[in-house]
This record gives sequence, C-alpha cells and structure tokens, in this order.
Amino acid sequence: MSLDEHVIEVRDLSRKFGAFTAVDAVNFDVRRSEIFGYLGANGAGKSTTIRMLCGLLAPTTGHATVAGKDIARDPVGVKRSIGYMSQRFSLYLDLTVQENLQFFAGAYGIGGKKQRVAVDAALERAQLQDSRNVITKSLPGGVRQRLALASALIHKPVILFLDEPTAGVSPDSRRDFWRMIRGLAREGTTLFVTTHHLDEAEYCDRIGLMVDGKLVALGTPPELKREHVAGAMFALADTDHRALRAALAGDARVLQIQPFGRRVHLRVDAALGTPVDIQSMLTGRGVAFGEIQRIEPTLEDVFLELVGGAS
Ligand SMILES: Nc1ncnc2c1ncn2[C@@H]1O[C@H](COP(=O)(O)OP(=O)(O)O)[C@@H](O)[C@H]1O
Ligand SMILES: [Mg+2]
Repeated sequence: MSLDEHVIEVRDLSRKFGAFTAVDAVNFDVRRSEIFGYLGANGAGKSTTIRMLCGLLAPTTGHATVAGKDIARDPVGVKRSIGYMSQRFSLYLDLTVQENLQFFAGAYGIGGKKQRVAVDAALERAQLQDSRNVITKSLPGGVRQRLALASALIHKPVILFLDEPTAGVSPDSRRDFWRMIRGLAREGTTLFVTTHHLDEAEYCDRIGLMVDGKLVALGTPPELKREHVAGAMFALADTDHRALRAALAGDARVLQIQPFGRRVHLRVDAALGTPVDIQSMLTGRGVAFGEIQRIEPTLEDVFLELVGGAS
C-alpha cells in the first residue's frame, strides 16, 4: 500500500436541507496516515460533511469514496471500515467503562475471547485499566473523551473521524488527546478531525477551511500561511494600535495592524524584513513603541485573511 494512496476522495460533494445548502460542492483528498483537519466556525458544514463521509447522511449531489467504498452505494461498507466519534461522544453514561467498550465491540460483531482482547487493548490505549469498573457518568470530561476515542477504535478502523473531539475539555487533556492522535497516525491510521481551535489545527498535516458550506482553503499549515498571509509580520510591545494606525495611515507598505493580546501585530511589505526596518519606519512618526520582534504568521492570521475577522 502506497503512502500516497488516497483513502478519502471527495468530488463536488453537496448537501442541502430544503433550500439551504449546508455543504456546497466540496473537493479534497486525504492520504493514508494523514491527519486532516477540517476547520470552520459553527454552522460552516463540518458535521454535515463528516456524517456524509461516515455513511450516515446521503449526499444531495456529488460523490465520495472512503476506504475505497462509495458513500452513497455502500454506506454499510463505509461504516465497517471507519471509526466515528460524534460531537457528543455518544457513550452510555450509566454503564461502566468496560461495559461501554464491550457494547461497542459487540456492535461491530466482536465477541468472546476476541472481545476480551479488544477491550483490554482499548483500556490500555486509553490508560483506563484502573477505571474499568467506574460508572462513565462519574468520569471527568478529558477521561470520558479518551474512553470515547478508545470505543471508536475498538474494531481497528483504517480511518477515524473525530467531530470536535476536544470541545469542552481542559487544555491539558487536549494536549494528551493530540498526543494519542499523532500516535495513531504514526501507526498508519488516517485521521479526519474537525475543530474550531486554530492552535490545534497546527498539529494537522493538512487543513481544509470551511466557510458557509464552501471549502475556501486547502493545504499544509505552512502552505496556507505562505499563500494567504503576504509580507513580513512583527509583534510590537508597548504600542497603542489606534495610535499606530493613525501614524501609519496612507503608508502603502503597511498591510495590516491588529491588536493581539497585549501586543500589536504589524504586517508590512516583505521588503521591510527586520526589526530595524520597522524601527526606522516608526521613528519620527510620533508613536511610542517598545520591543519589536519578527514573528511567523499563525493560522489565526490565515483565518482572519480569509474570513475577514468575522470569527
Ligand atoms: N438536519 C438538518 N436540517 C436542517 N439544517 C441542518 C441540519 N443539519 C445541519 N443543518 C444546518 O446546516 C448548517 C451546517 O451545520 P453543521 O454541518 O452542523 O455545521 P458545523 O458542524 O460546521 O457547526 C447549519 O446552518 C445547520 O443549522
Ligand atoms: Mg459540528
């Protein structure tokens, strides 16, 4: 099996609800063992896309294959090849950890000794060996999320779909979760992950950005930054962004001025590449400024460029 092999192929995939188009002629491929991040604000069409790709919702028009199976003609085949963690985790809260895993194994036709082996492996993967008899309801969010992930993996799917897996969990749990995701990708599992956390998107090999049902950008994080965020970026300390804006008004070399926490991000023509260039530009304009640092754009900057600060 080649690493360049596409395990997901999506062609002009659309889904309407009545007259409303939730997913609008989307095209992309996902390679084996890739972590593909599907980004977008609430309502952008992420879950609708995932539900189509998991064989749970029929497309209105267009095509897609998942693990070589056509989502419209063979949704049952698709469901067997994939794992799916929905936005709400779908665990049985009144069952124990072990009972949840047994339930999911059973749902995939894994019984007897095979089930015991699969459940033990899942408990180990999620580091839940000591909690096997704990009622799921009493687990903290991050642990519950690990259990949901382990449940979605119980039948060793080749592709795993995760719909906002880190919504509402602590930053520490989010980090642990991403460590598990990267481990899975290294072992050869393909991951399709939706998120609206832009910092998490940096962990993805490639990203598709959805805005109002349309895929508006597709590429690796460095590609997206190069393509969509022109010029050189600097962080300025001890500067008021309004004063800076007024002082630099009309200067064609200035591309963007954006407050960012306690600093101001200034994006300028690439010809101004060093802090000294910025210093000489600002000196004599009557604006106070402190330390100036050259910085790399983040996916947040990409998002701002593409969505126009609507997020
Ligand atoms: N079953 C449905 N019936 C009608 N509208 C829906 C349905 N499911 C989703 N939508 C609408 O489609 C749009 C995209 O929803 P969704 O795919 O859930 O977005 P996301 O997951 O990016 O937040 C939203 O405007 C949502 O209200
Ligand atoms: Mg959603």
